[in-house]
This record gives sequence, structure tokens and C-alpha cells, in this order.
Amino acid sequence: MCGIVGYVGHRDAVPYLLEGLHALEYRGYDSAGVAVRVDGALRVCRCEGRLSALESRIAAEGLTGSPGIGHTRWATHGEPSERNAHPHLDCNSRLAVVHNGIVENYADLRRRLVADGHHFSSETDTEVIPHLIEERLRRGVAARDAVREAMRELEGSFAVGILLADDSQCIFAARHGSPLVVGLGKEGNFIASDALAISRHVESVIYLEDGQVAEVTPQAVTVIDLEGREVKIEPRPLTVKAEEAEKAGFETFMLKEIHEQPRVLWSMIERHVDENGEINIDFGDLDSEFLRRLERIMVVACGTAFYAGLYGKLFLEHLTEIAVEADLGSEFRYRAPKFDQDTLIIAVSQSGETADTLASVRSAKSRGAPVFSICNVPMSTLARESDAVFYTQAGPEIGVASTKAFTAQLAALALFSLRVAEVRGELTAEDKNQLLTDLRRVPQAIHRVLLAKEHIAEIAEKHHSGPSALYLGRRFNYPVALEGALKNKEISYQHAEGYAAGEMKHGPIALISEYMPVVCICTRTADNLYEKMISNIKEVQARHGRIIAVATEGDRRVAELAEDVIYVPEVREEFSPMVNVVALQLLAYYAAHARGNDIDKPRNLAKSVTVE
Ligand code: F6R
Repeated sequence: MCGIVGYVGHRDAVPYLLEGLHALEYRGYDSAGVAVRVDGALRVCRCEGRLSALESRIAAEGLTGSPGIGHTRWATHGEPSERNAHPHLDCNSRLAVVHNGIVENYADLRRRLVADGHHFSSETDTEVIPHLIEERLRRGVAARDAVREAMRELEGSFAVGILLADDSQCIFAARHGSPLVVGLGKEGNFIASDALAISRHVESVIYLEDGQVAEVTPQAVTVIDLEGREVKIEPRPLTVKAEEAEKAGFETFMLKEIHEQPRVLWSMIERHVDENGEINIDFGDLDSEFLRRLERIMVVACGTAFYAGLYGKLFLEHLTEIAVEADLGSEFRYRAPKFDQDTLIIAVSQSGETADTLASVRSAKSRGAPVFSICNVPMSTLARESDAVFYTQAGPEIGVASTKAFTAQLAALALFSLRVAEVRGELTAEDKNQLLTDLRRVPQAIHRVLLAKEHIAEIAEKHHSGPSALYLGRRFNYPVALEGALKNKEISYQHAEGYAAGEMKHGPIALISEYMPVVCICTRTADNLYEKMISNIKEVQARHGRIIAVATEGDRRVAELAEDVIYVPEVREEFSPMVNVVALQLLAYYAAHARGNDIDKPRNLAKSVTVE
């Protein structure tokens, strides 16, 4: 979604702002802009579309200046246009504001400000913010207090960067519900909505908490709360490395991230399982006694992370007697789930900033339920609000479509389930050791799928042009069918539906014809579920559907039924989703490639959905 960068120091701000905005491009945006201070005035440059358009305009205008703030906007209130792009100004162009999030009470505020004579020039909710600050500055309120008081009037979620024409040495940042960091560097100090944007230039960062305002100068950072009291926050060393946000020779971030999966899973297993087969997971205050008496778990997540949550439900139910539900964050927060302090909430989120997941967690916490989160981004809001965190440590995921974060979530949920089953005495040492041995085979199996990418590309090129595709899977591979379909629609824009294969006869079978690619996940199982999947494939074949099967190496039966087969190495069924999904990621990838799409930045999508 939107991105914020700001710089205050003795150099020209523009190159820092553009570099930071480029680093945030992956989050999704449809317009961009910067504001810098020049000779005691503010100069703003904004435009619709990609950053390259903004760069051309900045170059044409010869824009330089310092300090400065910049923004990439993903439209919520008002269409993507130059007029609605940030930064937004007050009536006299003496202060500029960039904003992530939504000001929910903007309509009331705007009415009041217009009645007081303020002039608005955009349709955005953001524009109330500069006017709220302006009305206080006009009354002689000091800048720091004007910002703080204006923030107190806002409802909703926001991260804000502010630049003042009257102050050559300062920018302000404020946070409530949307992430914002202040970065401390040798060439100056920075603000950003994601530390990645400034990682080349800062050594340490301050993560602002909700309800805090930071006054940032080249020499110092002062943080206050909304009452005006100073808050002491120790800067933390920045852990994200700039090179992790580079393509390392791959044509896209997504392809790079798909290839990182063996390493991500291998190092996760290494970190959490010692040479004696002991599984180490930090449960924080959730002690063994709590895990033993646990009767209920509710997993909440959105999108791809929700499909990982569905897998977690299946695996936890498979190993333990705990009743497990998985729900979408956007639904959970509005229904009336029954739980108490003996129910564990597991929140799964790559970014740790997804608005619906956070709202679900807050609502569960307010009712006393402890929260264990599975999260990729250190110090994210979710991580900070949880009772315990399992960091997937997959590294920054820049491609908008999630890949390595998903397989890391699956592996994290598998390790979590194994440990919980062990603590509860529901897993014998022998079974645990066998399961861990089988889990350790997964990274190598994924590596072998990656070696088949050219074959997968050929299949994708053959099938990508149809209007729609169906993805079928059963049990542990039902979430994989959902995820495979989601990947396909996100990046190739081919409509796709994921279905539990047993549901096919209850509706989607009507769609099957010689024009319909049907991706069937049919890897071997220890029981007769494989045979059931074969029956489903035959039903598709009888209706001339074009079958693309994901099958276990050496399976000749599937080859006789399917038009195309992607063979994957044999792994235990419980862990096969981590391998099978990689085949589907590549299938979607090459379909998008064949269609000439912008794979890392699919249309309309944002990397982290920080508004409802
Ligand atoms: C799909 C995708 C999204 C996210 C969802 C949740 O490829 O990336 O569906 O999974 O927006 O995001 P996080 O995991 O950051 O909470």
C-alpha cells in the first residue's frame, strides 16, 4: 500500500527520497510525489503512475532541496491522479503532509475546516491533516504541539510525515496504527514506513509506537506522546540488509524469492531443531501447562497467510486432540466467535501489518485470549502485540505475490504443531523423529522442483490463454489448490478457482470443457485419498477438461490421464504442500511471464494491506 520516506540532513533530499520510494514500490501504488524545502518555501512535485514519470518531472524541473518528504499512494479516497497524490498542503503552502492509512472522520473534519475558510484541492481524506496543523500554527501554537494536537483529532489509522517551510532543520513523523520508523544515519536522519526504504543509509532505527510523534532533526530525534510528554526510546540496530532487497541476478524478485525457498526452510529447521531432535520454539509466557490444557485454537490470517492457516488447522488436528478453526481476519473481527483465556489465537502474517489480522488479534486479546503469531517482519505491529512470536526469517519479501513467506509459514506451523503435540504427550518420540526426518527432506525436494522450471514454463505457455482455470486438491493439498489458484489470478490475471476436489461434483464440474485447464494435485498419499483424486481426474478427463497434474515422480498412472504432468519428488503427504505449491508458483509465474505482465507489481495489488 502507500509508502512514506523523509530525509533531514545537510544534503539534497531528492535522491534519498527517490531511492526510498523505489525500495517501497513493491508495496503497490498508483501515484507518487515529493515535497522539499527550497529557500524558505516548499516545492512539490507529484504525478499519477509510476515513479519513472515522477523522476522525469523532477529532472525537468531541476528540483533539489532539503529537508524533504516523499510518498507512493495506493488510492483509497479519490481516484489515482496528480491532484490526489501526496504530499498535500495547507492553504498557504507552508506545510506538506504525506500519509498512510485512513482518516475515518475526515468528512466531519473537512466540513468544519471548510466552514472555517480552509481551501481544499483534493478528494483525499489526507488533506484534512495539513489544515488541522495549519489552524493551530496560525494561533501561534508551537509546531511540535500543533502536530500533536492535530493527531489527537484524527480517528482511524495513520502514519504521517510532515515538512514545514518555516523550519529548515526538522521533519515530523507521527504514528497511530500504521507502521513508521525513524532512521539514524551518518548523512542525516530519516523517516520511513518500512525500514527497507532507508536501509542503505541508517545504522539504527526507532520504531514509533501508536500515539507517538517524533521531531527529527539532523542531530537528534525527540519522541513525545499525544499528551506532550517526552518518551525515551533506545534506537535498535537495523537488521534488514539492503542487498536482501536486490534481485541477485534474477529477472524478478518473485523468481528470486521462489528460488530462496529451500534455503529459507533449511535454515528454519536448523534454527528450531537441534542435533538431538529437540524442537525449540519460544512460547513466551505460554507455558507447557497452558499448552497441555489447551482445547481450542483459532487461526486468523488473510489471503495466502490464511491458506497457510488452513494447513496449520489440518496438521494440528492430525497430531493433537485440539479443536482448531481457521478464519479470515476480515470475517473473524465481525463475527461472534466463542473463546476464552484457554483458547489460543494464532495469527499468521508475512508483514505483521495487515489491518484485518491486527483487528482480529486486538479483539481476541481484549477478551483475554493469548496470541501466538507467525510473522516474517521483525518488530512489526503484530509481533509487538503478540504474547509470543515465531519469526519465519524468510528475509524481505518484495514480490507482491507471496511465495517464500507462504512455505515458511507452512514449515513454522508444522514445527509448532509437532512441538505442541509433543508437550501434550500426543506424539511418541519415534513418530516425532520420523516426522522430523521427513521434514528435513523437504528443502532438497523443493530444489528438485526448481530444476524442472523450464518444463513448467512450457506447460504454462500452453495453457495461459484460456479465460479460466480450476485447481483441485484434497486434505493437506486443499489449501495448496486455493493458493495455486490465488497465485495464478494475482499475477497472470487468468481467472482461477481453487476447490476441494470432492466438491467438484457439487458445482464446478459444470465449467469443465476442452477450454478449461484443470490443475490436479495428485501426489501419493499413505491411504486411499490418492485413488479418490484419480477418480476426480477421470471425471475431468471424461468431460474433455485439459488436465495438468502435479504427481509423484515415477507415477505412470497419472501420466496416462493428464495432458501434462509436473513431477515432484516423493515426500510425506503431511509435508507435500511445501513442495507442491512451488510447482504451482512456477506455473503461475510463467503464465504471467507469457502474458507479459509486470510480475513483481501486479495491477491493483498492494503488498501489505494496512487498511480495512
Ligand atoms: C498473496 C498475498 C496476500 C497476503 C495477504 C496477507 O500473494 O500476498 O494474499 O498473503 O494480504 O498479508 P500478510 O501475510 O502480510 O498478513
